[in-house]
Amino acid sequence: MSNYHIKHLEEYWQVYRKSLRNPESFWEEIAEEHFLWRKRWDNVLSWDFSKPEVKWFEGAELNITENCIDRHLATRGDKTAILFEPNDPSEGAQHITYNELHERVSKFANVLKSQGIKKGDRVCIYLPMIPELAVSVLACARIGAIHSVVFAGFSATALSTRINDCDCKMVICSDGSFRGNKTIDLKGIVDEALKSCEGVSTVLVAERTKSDIEMKEGRDKWLQPLLDEADSVCKATVVKAEDPLFILYTSGSTGKPKGMVHTTAGYMVYSAYTFKNVFQYREADVYWCTADIGWITGHSYIVYGPLANGATTVMFEGVPSYPDYGRFWEIVEKHKVTQFYTAPTAIRALAKENLEFVNKYDLSSLKVLGTVGEPINEEAWHWYNDNIGKKNSPIVDTWWQTETGGIMISPIPYSTPTIPTYATLPLPGIQPALMDENGKELKGNQVEGRLCIKFPWPSMARTIYGNHERYRDTYFSAYENAYFTGDGALRDAVGYYRITGRVDDVIIVSGHNLGTAPIEDAINEHPAVAESAIVGYPHDIKGNALYGYITLKETGEGRNHDNLSKEINQLITDRIGPIAKLNKIQFASGLPKTRSGKIMRRILRKIACKETSNLGDTSTLLNPEVVNELIEQSLVVS
Ligand code: WTA
Repeated sequence: MSNYHIKHLEEYWQVYRKSLRNPESFWEEIAEEHFLWRKRWDNVLSWDFSKPEVKWFEGAELNITENCIDRHLATRGDKTAILFEPNDPSEGAQHITYNELHERVSKFANVLKSQGIKKGDRVCIYLPMIPELAVSVLACARIGAIHSVVFAGFSATALSTRINDCDCKMVICSDGSFRGNKTIDLKGIVDEALKSCEGVSTVLVAERTKSDIEMKEGRDKWLQPLLDEADSVCKATVVKAEDPLFILYTSGSTGKPKGMVHTTAGYMVYSAYTFKNVFQYREADVYWCTADIGWITGHSYIVYGPLANGATTVMFEGVPSYPDYGRFWEIVEKHKVTQFYTAPTAIRALAKENLEFVNKYDLSSLKVLGTVGEPINEEAWHWYNDNIGKKNSPIVDTWWQTETGGIMISPIPYSTPTIPTYATLPLPGIQPALMDENGKELKGNQVEGRLCIKFPWPSMARTIYGNHERYRDTYFSAYENAYFTGDGALRDAVGYYRITGRVDDVIIVSGHNLGTAPIEDAINEHPAVAESAIVGYPHDIKGNALYGYITLKETGEGRNHDNLSKEINQLITDRIGPIAKLNKIQFASGLPKTRSGKIMRRILRKIACKETSNLGDTSTLLNPEVVNELIEQSLVVS
């Protein structure tokens, strides 16, 4: 029996039970048989959730790029590693073979070295979905530098916060980016961000849009001439198993974004293992994940997981609506995509369009469909199953997080029977638990509670960069000896999990995690605003959209609400990015507060969701009279 590749349900159960009985030997066998190590580990696992401290494969030495690239060269050198599909289809796809990827990563790594980047240095990557993004990620890993990729839709302020938080020395960006028929001035955003980032001494600029940009003397350098001069051999720097591989920021319910730190060996083993099983990847497959490498999904399931398996991974620069709403399906047909992994929000948006956009294309190459990032509603699930999979491709509804590094709960296609809206069963090695509000574990089936994980898995984030205490408080303090996910879930009669959504102040909009606090901070910067509170409400395409309650200072009263709304959304765009804009704004005369002055979001959420028939007990409010006013005012909010 192979632990590495599960092919039917009975095998899943055997492997799962084995992973519970002896997690160390389970992961050790996988690590031993499927990866390249420079030095073997002394100890598979040590852990203590009270500190919290988790170490996998301690003592081992390796380089992840040797696992993702070098070891494939003998057998797969001419196989396409990265299949780049540009924004504009007429530009034509690029097939980057493993040999070519090896050369490009080596050259790029030598450029990093020539610019003074050393093992352990942090490098911020702010690039669109062009090959240089994957190449620069791998080039950092080649020399043991820590990459911090920032999604290129974030604003200058959001970028500078992330650069400063982990003291990046270098930024890698492009002149601009293409998104549909728009060209975005990425370099301009970087210039603006760097006004407040003193630690950055070098900016490498990839050419993409050929836009007219400013190059700051001494700081900014075009990438291509440096690559042209670079040596095409770069010996991989050997790192320790627990050396950080990357930092990736995620929103918290309060405070600044959290720089989740992922380390090398455990992350590699887990992302590769889950890729193989959840997508049932086979040698000749063409796998496509539509996420951006700026998010964890792109890190684990566009770059590291697929490449560690020697797969062909598609990288798409564009958007699903350009040149028209058939773009995804045209790409599936053209490249004979076998696994297709996307977000429910994309499915809902495409399901609204004419079916002709789907039916024009031959989708018969597809074998597995996946979703990630938010709960998928039943209607979207059926549309995906009927029209894209033609009821022939199992859908894997994969639940996981930036913090978990890899997929945690998901069907294994062709093994686990799927049910719409259920992420189904934990993957081998994963021990979920549901807790009640008092911190007691809810045993047995047919229970609903807060989702925790009771045992370490190899790819869990090890800390929050520069703030271990926050890491402990956020994830390990709510329940004893368990990692708390921030999600609610139920376990049904057969033990399947269904994720019910966030139980904290994180709102998932179009699959993006947004914390309410930073958005409220941005709004409160407006001179006319006294106070604000953001809640989520259901939206047919985005899943959730943002509803802002805003009270004005005396000086703001009498101002035109449409203009104020525009100014507020502009502030949010500047501080965070357009993804955090409010869909609805209610200018309120007051916000409901507890006697200790805390805003009662529960009531605001119900009003925004138009569920006002049962608001619960409002008598403990400091200002109960405001509730009826808010309900009345909400009727005219559109
Ligand atoms: C949510 C994305 C329901 C969840 C990989 C989680 C999901 C958060 C699912 C993490 C799913 C992710 N069903 N909810 N299949 N997948 N989520 O860090 O609330 O961007 O905590 O990682 O997305 O989002 P993140």
